[in-house]
Amino acid sequence: MTQTLSKRINRIEVSATMAVVSEAERLRAGGADLVDFGAGEPHFSTPQHIKDAAVAAIQANFTKYTAVGGTIELRDAIASRHAADFGSAYKREECIAATGGKQALFNAFQVLVDHGDEVIIPVPYWVSFKDMVCYSGGVPVFVQTDERNGFALTAEMVERAITPRTKVILLNSPSNPAGSVINSENLTAILQVAAKHNVFVVSDECYVYLDYTGHRFSLGSLTAEKERMLVVGSLSKTYSMTGWRLGFAMGPKWLVGAMQKLQSQSTSNPTSVVQKAAVAALTGPQECVEEMRLEYIRLRDHIVAGLRSIPGIQCVLPYGAFYAYPNISSFLKGKDGKRTAAEIAGRLLREAGVVVVPGEAFGTEEHLRVSYATSIAELDKGIDRMRKFFASL
Ligand SMILES: Cc1ncc(COP(=O)(O)O)c(C=O)c1O
Repeated sequence: MTQTLSKRINRIEVSATMAVVSEAERLRAGGADLVDFGAGEPHFSTPQHIKDAAVAAIQANFTKYTAVGGTIELRDAIASRHAADFGSAYKREECIAATGGKQALFNAFQVLVDHGDEVIIPVPYWVSFKDMVCYSGGVPVFVQTDERNGFALTAEMVERAITPRTKVILLNSPSNPAGSVINSENLTAILQVAAKHNVFVVSDECYVYLDYTGHRFSLGSLTAEKERMLVVGSLSKTYSMTGWRLGFAMGPKWLVGAMQKLQSQSTSNPTSVVQKAAVAALTGPQECVEEMRLEYIRLRDHIVAGLRSIPGIQCVLPYGAFYAYPNISSFLKGKDGKRTAAEIAGRLLREAGVVVVPGEAFGTEEHLRVSYATSIAELDKGIDRMRKFFASL
């Protein structure tokens, strides 16, 4: 009966990071002692005042449907937080809350992209971008970035990829998986290129608060170009709330309205109780965000030093998010013939008990993604295992 499935669903694959997580879960259930560098989520607990707000919302019976795109209170909180932190100027009707940044992105591609429309995606890219575009019928057009330059994306690279069929330029800074950051000059120049060619920009800023350059920047601050861009954000990483599922998008009313229409026919509103927790996160004390950011910088420095100390591994310094993206090309031509990063990741898991995601999932063939959102002790344990494993290849 598999032929009963739509052609559409066969255009996409199961998220490769999810696949790694389930394989690791299977091994762990069998008693394996794993060091987990695979997870794409913070290791911190959700701050107490946010949890308290959710409990209070349950006790107050705030448990019914809300407006599809989130309560006015929440949309105002999203817009005000963003205005205060980045100088943007979105109104509540230009803002939609969704069940994670992922749903906001998915809905955006569904309502923006028609069959054959091209979407420019910088490489390496977050796994879901390609599949979201393919599911909408669009054609991903990949733009290679330069590893020697920290995987930086420039306006020239983007402009070279534009064709008459280009509909959207997708940006993700800081990025998953390389932790690369597009600085404000380059982001502004890319927006100018988009304006010149009349192309729309979707800016995935889910990691914008985890920028280690000290110059965090949102495209949303370029208020004169509001009509041309959608800014997507999330509480998942900023407040360590991945399981709560609360993200948002801000953009022109015509687009936010269309996304709301789609959401009204699928999931409706994000969970009511979570919306109250999100208001507490956005309007409450923000020290927790900075505390987590500073700890990530410490962890980043530790993992990068550890990875660079393994003979044969090279690793550019990530400037944001919580991933390192070491280059393992020197191990791909082994004594036992050619190996892929996926094979190396599989062997690392089975033979050394270290969970990482192979670069193929992100569009490159010579890397592993190492999530360092864990303790220093776990980082040391994992590095030690990796050192022994790579020495044995
Ligand atoms: C680049 C990027 N965008 C968006 C998301 C979506 O996060 P969420 O749906 O939890 O808000 C993720 C999650 O890993 C991500 O890495």
